[in-house]
Amino acid sequence: MPVGIGRLGEEKVQNRNALAEGLRVPTLRSMSERSAEFVFALCNPESERAMKVEVEMMKLGWRSSYQRRGFVTFKSDQPFKIDDLAVEIACARRLCLSHGKFKTREHAVEALKESGAMLIHDAKYELSKMRGVTVENQEHPKIGDLVGTVVELGESEFWAGLHRHQKAISPDPGGDSGVLMPDSSPSRAWLKLEEAVRFWGLEFTPQDIVVELGCAPGGVVLALLDRGASVIGVDPAKMADVVMEHAITDRREAPNDRPWFYHCKKPAALAAKRDLGPEVTWFMSDMNQAPSVVLKECERFKKMAPGIRGVLITLKLTSMEQVAEKADWFSALREMGFTTVRLQQLSVNHREFALLGLRGSSAEALQP
Ligand SMILES: C[S@@+](CC[C@H](N)C(=O)[O-])C[C@H]1O[C@@H](n2cnc3c(N)ncnc32)[C@H](O)[C@@H]1O
Repeated sequence: MPVGIGRLGEEKVQNRNALAEGLRVPTLRSMSERSAEFVFALCNPESERAMKVEVEMMKLGWRSSYQRRGFVTFKSDQPFKIDDLAVEIACARRLCLSHGKFKTREHAVEALKESGAMLIHDAKYELSKMRGVTVENQEHPKIGDLVGTVVELGESEFWAGLHRHQKAISPDPGGDSGVLMPDSSPSRAWLKLEEAVRFWGLEFTPQDIVVELGCAPGGVVLALLDRGASVIGVDPAKMADVVMEHAITDRREAPNDRPWFYHCKKPAALAAKRDLGPEVTWFMSDMNQAPSVVLKECERFKKMAPGIRGVLITLKLTSMEQVAEKADWFSALREMGFTTVRLQQLSVNHREFALLGLRGSSAEALQP
């Protein structure tokens, strides 16, 4: 049974000996200093190897140690401090100082409470996924809050970890919002947009006009329309009826009183400035194309629509280890003027990553 913030305060430490018995691998050296011998990372199953490649490439000096599906521990020459968690590992949905392994969830929770966790999140490996356990009406942590995570890996294998909530990291257990797709969505891509919005705390307003390359059949478009933004979708393929209900036929006659959809029914390379109009604020792409192709298109669209303040791209990879190229993707976005750039494998991504670029006040909102 997951424990939300309300119940946490009510729980009492009943038996400290039992806690000591349950603690099989006590790795937290000093609770007051919040340092630990190990950190652990939660990721999507089958991204463990890519995460190790990424960590190696980042030259953090971390060495991988114990590992299970969706769960990797790292060790270093020096004890880890909580500030060491402020690294951006695209494959990791959650990074924690490890308190080690416990026989029961209760023992793990007690240890986390003792080290100052104000809120407990749960995650478990289930149905081939590392899932966050969402609790109805659970409050999101505030910036600076210490959050404990209990990861259930087996009947008597509960790992306890601690992190500090920051801007631009997921507020949800295990970095997984658990959001469910509505039946009306024509594709799973709806989840990709919604998960990215929740992970990074992105905001859209009725003033936003998003251009999306590879928009058919329209899951992302539907999510954006529901969030009040209008969309210019570029794709030669057919859109779902549920999206076409919002369609306009002439971009120049877009209404001001409701979100609309304009289908630019051609390949991205043939889309021109007149298809976009003057007010585009976001660039998105979900095409099945190589990162270099998508980033070239992004650059071209940014030139045609200089008001673009945000970029959200689903990068489809042939191999997850291509994450080692992330510095090139970041440089490409920075050269286009995006000052805050992030790469993240979201819980709903398969062999893909979400690449985010922001500038101006949108970028400031996400900076630590
Ligand atoms: C994964 S689907 C996109 C799903 C969509 N974003 C949604 O929300 O439902 C990929 C789409 O990319 C489109 N696509 C591939 N290459 C393209 C190109 N060069 N220009 C425009 N669309 C392209 C395909 O036609 C296909 O509809």
